[in-house]
Amino acid sequence: MFPEPLFQAPLLTQIHIVCAILAIVLGAVQFLKRKGTSWHKRIGWAWVAIMVVVAGTSLFMRDLNEGQLSITHAFTILTVFALPGAIYAIRKGAILQHRALMMMLYIGGLTIAAVFTLMPGRLLHKVLFGG
Ligand code: HEM
Repeated sequence: MFPEPLFQAPLLTQIHIVCAILAIVLGAVQFLKRKGTSWHKRIGWAWVAIMVVVAGTSLFMRDLNEGQLSITHAFTILTVFALPGAIYAIRKGAILQHRALMMMLYIGGLTIAAVFTLMPGRLLHKVLFGG
């Protein structure tokens, strides 16, 4: 591990990383525990708030494409639509739709976004492999 780039990164990036990791952990807990309980709802709202921070901070992070939005912002767009969609679905009792959207966000959004961050040239690649 070479953690220096992590400490030198802008505060916004640090907040983004901490919240993204929290979202991975809380999301895993959510998938493992019983659904529909008061804990499911509490953890669910906490997860939604954390994802809003992850997606919100990402809007201001534009180093990969010289100040413009990059391909990585596809994950932001996915979150902007799927997160309210999943809440709307459960509010009208569409459990399968809620489940599908949340799984898409967790696997398609969070997990794949996390794998993307390990590509050469990116911050976490430098943290893990140096250079
Ligand atoms: C565990 C999951 C995630 C981790 C560890 C992570 C980490 C990072 C890091 C370290 C950066 C700084 C740029 C770089 O890598 O050099 C970054 C940028 C970014 N992340 Fe994430 N992220 C995660 C999830 C997400 C999610 C879920 C979204 C969308 C909602 C997202 C959207 C972005 C965007 C748009 C950028 C800016 C890319 C650019 O500069 O053009 N990330 N992320």
